[in-house]
Amino acid sequence: MDPLESQYPATEKNPGAVRHPREAAAGQGSALDLDERDARAAGNGHQALPDRIRFEDLEVAPRPVPADRRSQGWLEDRVGVKAFNQKYGRKAFPVHTTFFLGEMALFSFVILVLTGIYLALIYTPSTAEVTINGETLPQAYASTQLIESIPVANLFRNVHHWCAHLMVISVLLHALRIFFQGTYRRPRELNWANGVALLALTLLAGFLGYALPFDSYAVTATGIGYGIARSVPGIGNVAAELFFGGAFPTLGSLPRLYTLHVFVVPLMLASIIGLHLLLIIKQKHSQPGYARKLAEPGRVLGVPLWPYQALLAGQLLLLMFGGLFLLSAAIPIHPLDAYGPPGPNASEVKPDWYLLWVYGFLRIIPGDLVFTVFGLNIGPEFLGGLVFPGVIFTLMALAPWLDKTNRPKHGHGRFYQYLEPSRQNPLRVAIGVGMLAYIGMLFVAAYYTELGFTIGQMWFLSLVIPFAIALLVYGRGRARLNSLPEEERFDPMGEDAPLSTTVGAD
Ligand code: HEM
Repeated sequence: MDPLESQYPATEKNPGAVRHPREAAAGQGSALDLDERDARAAGNGHQALPDRIRFEDLEVAPRPVPADRRSQGWLEDRVGVKAFNQKYGRKAFPVHTTFFLGEMALFSFVILVLTGIYLALIYTPSTAEVTINGETLPQAYASTQLIESIPVANLFRNVHHWCAHLMVISVLLHALRIFFQGTYRRPRELNWANGVALLALTLLAGFLGYALPFDSYAVTATGIGYGIARSVPGIGNVAAELFFGGAFPTLGSLPRLYTLHVFVVPLMLASIIGLHLLLIIKQKHSQPGYARKLAEPGRVLGVPLWPYQALLAGQLLLLMFGGLFLLSAAIPIHPLDAYGPPGPNASEVKPDWYLLWVYGFLRIIPGDLVFTVFGLNIGPEFLGGLVFPGVIFTLMALAPWLDKTNRPKHGHGRFYQYLEPSRQNPLRVAIGVGMLAYIGMLFVAAYYTELGFTIGQMWFLSLVIPFAIALLVYGRGRARLNSLPEEERFDPMGEDAPLSTTVGAD
């Protein structure tokens, strides 16, 4: 017997024929001998299948057949916009203000890319020295001066910088809303972990951006990063030189940091954001509690993407643009004059608020905390600059797996499709608030000498205050939950909605 035939048995009607498995499964199409198919194709003036391609490996996909053979319009005939809109335009978006935080993060990224492209037209990533009006300056610094001297370019530079802050704020608030409402749980664990990578990359993009104007702030702040990279046991020197284009600051540094800032990190962000959004389309948004009363079981309630959500999102984008331009016109951010060109008398600088917690921890970690593990030297810079943030991000990424309520026995295999009122989970609220208080205390630690604390006092305060706050929040939350009647508690998993209308159902 033909081996192919043993795999795909001949049919009763046509004993010698081999059918395409998908045709056979669908019970349709004529059963033709493979050679006969090739012969027919050749007889019709078509080419036979190339030898390397086996017929049974091909996909037989339906071609969209227009209901009406008359032209539906130029674009419709070619792209089939109506079918596309039917499939994706009706995606339902929950009506809840906190759901705009993710979109704000997305639009901040878009604004950063657009303003960044404009700045890249003028900026030169080079530390080579040039003489401008009798002053010898690094070329990157001089090109940033040029940007500042052109009013529209200066405005764009400010918008770019303010927008970096806005992106970090919106990403953080977005993550906090998901955390406190418990929607990082089944089935959205992967998207949560994906989001943690987005948060880390957003912070990295900000750090890389600081190097580019190459003022004295840039040299000091990036120098701290270089020191941290060098402290990696065993591979520190290689890793630091790879990331910073040589021993920082050197001629290779800015081209390397620039490439990372304008290509590598944004491309990674764009791809991971794409995956993030694909997962949201696949899994659908979680639902505010009110939706349960209105949506049909198993369906999602919200305004359809087209045109309502698109209009709302468009408004948000314009508002963000407007707000950022106004802010930038009124309050210049990080002007070059504030720090001046790099030189021997660089003042001590502190990183921006979103990296200040790492800096705070680095400041209070004892300088003599050095030990050896398997012959590798572990020092305070490595512990404070990489291990500590690494632990925080790993704990955050693992939150869905650490949360006991996300284990099968709690949900009997059901999914968390609704936002959970935060009062229903005092432990989660206490942990979240405690962590935020701890990060806040690390901000204080960044200034502990200026505030007159000793290192011992700072350690004590940075551990005790967040712990006390977490305990207080937990105690109060527990008491509130205990006084909440059972029937007033909201089950974030159920699908027990009465049948009703679904606006823009997905
Ligand atoms: C560049 C950064 C980010 C962008 C552009 C982004 C974008 C979005 C958008 C547009 C949504 C749908 C609307 C919404 O639920 O707010 C969403 C949902 C979601 N995001 Fe993000 N996000 C980012 C970062 C993060 C971070 C840092 C996390 C968590 C650590 C995260 C976790 C999630 C999850 C779990 C959902 C589904 C939420 C639900 O359905 O309740 N995202 N994201």
